Amino acid sequence: MCGIVGAVAKDNVVPVLLEGLLRLEYRGYDSAGLVVSNNSLHRVRTTGRVAELVKLVDEQQAEGSAGIAHTRWATHGAPSERNAHPHVSGEETKIAVVHNGIIENHEAMRKRLQADGYEFVSDTDTEVIAHLVAHHLKQTADLLKAVCLSIAELQGAYAIVVMEEVRPDRIIVARNGAPLLLGLGEEGNYAASDASALLKVTRNMIYLEEGDVAELDRDNYRIVNCLNDPLGEPVERAVHESDLSNEAIEMGPYDHFMQKEIFEQPGAVANTLEMVFNAQSISPNLFGSTAEKIFSDTDSLLILACGTSYHAGLVAQYWLETVAGMPCNVEIASEYRYRDPVANPRTLVVGISQSGETADTLAALSYAKKLGHQHSLAICNVAESALIRQTDLRFLTRAGPEIGVASTKAFTTQLASLLLLTVTLAKMRNKLSVEHEQQMIKALRHLPAAVQSSLQVEPEVAVWAERFSEKHHALFLGRGVHYPIAMEGALKLKEISYIHAEAYAAGELKHGPLALVDSEMPVVAIAPNDQLLGKLKSNLQEVHARGGELYVFADADSQIQESENLHVIRLAEHAGLLSPILHTIPLQLLAYHVALNKGTDVDKPRNLAKAVTVE
Ligand code: G6P
Repeated sequence: MCGIVGAVAKDNVVPVLLEGLLRLEYRGYDSAGLVVSNNSLHRVRTTGRVAELVKLVDEQQAEGSAGIAHTRWATHGAPSERNAHPHVSGEETKIAVVHNGIIENHEAMRKRLQADGYEFVSDTDTEVIAHLVAHHLKQTADLLKAVCLSIAELQGAYAIVVMEEVRPDRIIVARNGAPLLLGLGEEGNYAASDASALLKVTRNMIYLEEGDVAELDRDNYRIVNCLNDPLGEPVERAVHESDLSNEAIEMGPYDHFMQKEIFEQPGAVANTLEMVFNAQSISPNLFGSTAEKIFSDTDSLLILACGTSYHAGLVAQYWLETVAGMPCNVEIASEYRYRDPVANPRTLVVGISQSGETADTLAALSYAKKLGHQHSLAICNVAESALIRQTDLRFLTRAGPEIGVASTKAFTTQLASLLLLTVTLAKMRNKLSVEHEQQMIKALRHLPAAVQSSLQVEPEVAVWAERFSEKHHALFLGRGVHYPIAMEGALKLKEISYIHAEAYAAGELKHGPLALVDSEMPVVAIAPNDQLLGKLKSNLQEVHARGGELYVFADADSQIQESENLHVIRLAEHAGLLSPILHTIPLQLLAYHVALNKGTDVDKPRNLAKAVTVE
């Protein structure tokens, strides 16, 4: 998704801008650009990768002590150089703008500005901002005021950074619904949509709030808020020291970030559960200092999430109902936010998100609060994210930065966290004997080693992957708590290999999808040795009898034998509640190896973004 970097410093800011864009690359984008100021505004844009922009900037010797830069993920208008940011306006009052998010009233604004004589050269909503700011700048002759007056007219959720040719010593930034932060450095001041973009220059960050507009020069900054006063009231915002890890973003010995992240899972799960490893018992305080009180008032859960995080919620639903005896609903955030659900004030709302910036998840959570839900919990991988700041309780999945667009270690650490939540709630509701609690702590301590052992099947999975590369479709089957794991397996395969894959609850097979089964349709089945194994075996027979080719991930004790058209990879013996986490690993490896064989862009699959900060 779009990324923003802005800088004003003593020296040339081009290296800071480009480094920032490289660090934001993982979010997904289709074009990139920058403007630097050196007597005049120098703009460089490309539809290629940031590496291409680096080359162009070098060739054109673009430099300056202030600049703004952007990676664009197309929403309005195709990915093209013409639509790439920054967008500019004006001749005498020339200004440049980069923008994340969406301007909802851009069509009406465009018509109005065109009537005033502004000429549009792109299809973007962003160009409206450039002309509108230029328009107000003519009246006010002050860029900060011009930005404040402009945002009063813009509807939507967005973050912008603006600079002006005649004042090359400052940049103006504004936040309204999309993340934006300031970085305060020794050599200058900076702005970005994500803290990781600025780690090379500073760790001192200010997270802007809704309606904040800030002016930065190389030594100073000031912030005003425009929510109640269109010209802005001065406000103070706290400075935080970021503790994001710098090194965690390097690829190390791996070929892809996704590969690195799959193999980091034992460590990521261990970090996430660290507090439990040394504990004698499980305490609600792990979720926040008020968790005990809130959990004892809670009679049910509502989980809101998108994509892979939604699948984690579906697994948790089985755990929460079975182990803690708690009713749990799981909803796709983009659906929930536009329904009229009935709120129960005693329902704990749980937002699950890797990034903590997914627009639909944030909006669904706010909506749930508005409807009357009183308490919320974030399960999130980014400590400095909007989601974490929006909830009463929080639990960090300490997976480290996840760069590959297809989520892997974030998912398994979300599952580990949700299992811990389940056990905590079960204990508080007297559903867990002391002995059972000790068994659970032991099982959680064993989880990193168990994940490591699931990774061992990689060579066998790689052999299967060769057969998948030629296929156009695949079916994934699971039952019970492994049905969402089948959904996640299908999602991974389609995201990175572009093979059309669908998951079904195996019992649903004969209600439709069986019609698709022939020798060209690989059918992947998850076959743990649980109470549904007998039922699943009958479903597999249905596929086998129709000439389908079965690829079964079985537990060592599942007793499924290989035969013609029935291939089996065995994991360790059945791991009880941990089983869905362990069965996820081979499915990630399958998607990864199929994508490798197909030569797709594993870490940045086409059309997808890592953090979806627009609706
Ligand atoms: C995007 C990503 C997915 C992710 C989803 C939700 O679609 O490509 O990998 O699962 O957003 O993201 P979140 O950060 O909220 O977990």
